[in-house]
Amino acid sequence: MSVILKNCLLIEGLSNILIEEGKIVDIKPSEQSETFGTVNETIDIKGNLVIPGVIDAHVHVRDLQQAYKEDWETASMAALAGGVTTIFDMPNTLPATINLKNLNIKRKAAEMSLVNYKFFIGATNSNQKDIEEILDKNAPDIAGIKVFLAGSVSNETVTDEDILKQVFELAKQYDKVVVIHTELQELLDKWQQRLPYNNILKHNAIRNRQCAIKGTELVLRLSEVIGNKIYIAHVSTFEEIELIKKYKCNNQVFCEVTPHHLLLNESILEKVGNIGKVNPPLRSEKDNAALWQAINNGIADTIGTDHAPHTIEEKQQEYEKAPSGFPGLETCLLLLLNEVNEGNLKLEKLIELTSNNPAKIFQLEKRGEIKVGNFADLSVIDLNKKWKINASAFRSKAKYSPFDGIEVKGKVMMTFVDGKILDVSKEVIYGTI
Ligand code: DOR
Ligand code: ZN
Repeated sequence: MSVILKNCLLIEGLSNILIEEGKIVDIKPSEQSETFGTVNETIDIKGNLVIPGVIDAHVHVRDLQQAYKEDWETASMAALAGGVTTIFDMPNTLPATINLKNLNIKRKAAEMSLVNYKFFIGATNSNQKDIEEILDKNAPDIAGIKVFLAGSVSNETVTDEDILKQVFELAKQYDKVVVIHTELQELLDKWQQRLPYNNILKHNAIRNRQCAIKGTELVLRLSEVIGNKIYIAHVSTFEEIELIKKYKCNNQVFCEVTPHHLLLNESILEKVGNIGKVNPPLRSEKDNAALWQAINNGIADTIGTDHAPHTIEEKQQEYEKAPSGFPGLETCLLLLLNEVNEGNLKLEKLIELTSNNPAKIFQLEKRGEIKVGNFADLSVIDLNKKWKINASAFRSKAKYSPFDGIEVKGKVMMTFVDGKILDVSKEVIYGTI
């Protein structure tokens, strides 16, 4: 099966892409299209921008006993609608991905996925043998190991420093990246006692920035001694950026920023309430600025959505009961494209953060770049289309967002996974302005 995508606007200019058996086999300037010979199908991309499909290293797909929140079908539909072609699923599911038996249950459920995927194995205070058993099999579907240093949403934690070191040693031995949620439980407990508020407006004070800063400092220090690769998830404070800057010289420290920590701060909580409850919390404008700077000076390596769906009923409970997190797969690329249009983000940088870098860091073969030999994972973008984000039309089961109602310029028109168009986002999804 061969397909030509003609009139694709690439960074290099207007081009035609020849795809065979899911892979890119040739790319030529559009005026030379006839040299491709005969093909089964030609699709006219009409001069729209074509970028590598987004690789989102931070997704909570749920499913299994939490399929009422989200499942592999709805999560992957949401991914397609958002131009995302690969997702890495987090282990804090029910049952948790902390041993081979539970991993195999998840593997079965994930067969429903419409996009590429990999899994993180969760570390606990006692499952090093389980991690070894999984990695010993040279499991190509394992993206890495996830460590939570604090309780967040139904997750296992690693609270013992010696165990953390052992997990780092294991990661080094198997050449896997350790992704870390760095808020520290011990400090979290202290701050919660010190500030006994029960109010979303105090979430940032209660889950105090010090919890994240100290945890980030700890993992930077330990990983430098051990020499393993770490990926600090959802960095949210300027202090963490300063720390990462100091340690980021050996190509072993990677750092992820989410669209919400970049574009929102706690001032929005007045308006959105618990919908905006997320861990780590939304911080301040000063932190937003530092994250932008980290993007522009190469300290931030990736943008991950932290897509974390819950039911609206769960989110509408009182502050202490409402779970943290909200969906992000369908808003991430739109928000970033809007920043490109606003002149705040270079298109090349967007591509680096959302596809080139995650593919490199997690060693994805033949993905993350539009080049001959790679799989044809592509997002087709109309950079001039104006949209209003309409959460009620999300493909995710979680039909709410702190970004709901925001007007953006730039829209995903089609998403190709392994050369197949799997979704053409319909106008109704986001609603026109
Ligand atoms: O806000 C969050 N939600 N932070 C996490 O660490 C977990 C996530 C979830 O699973 O809902
Ligand atoms: Zn997460």
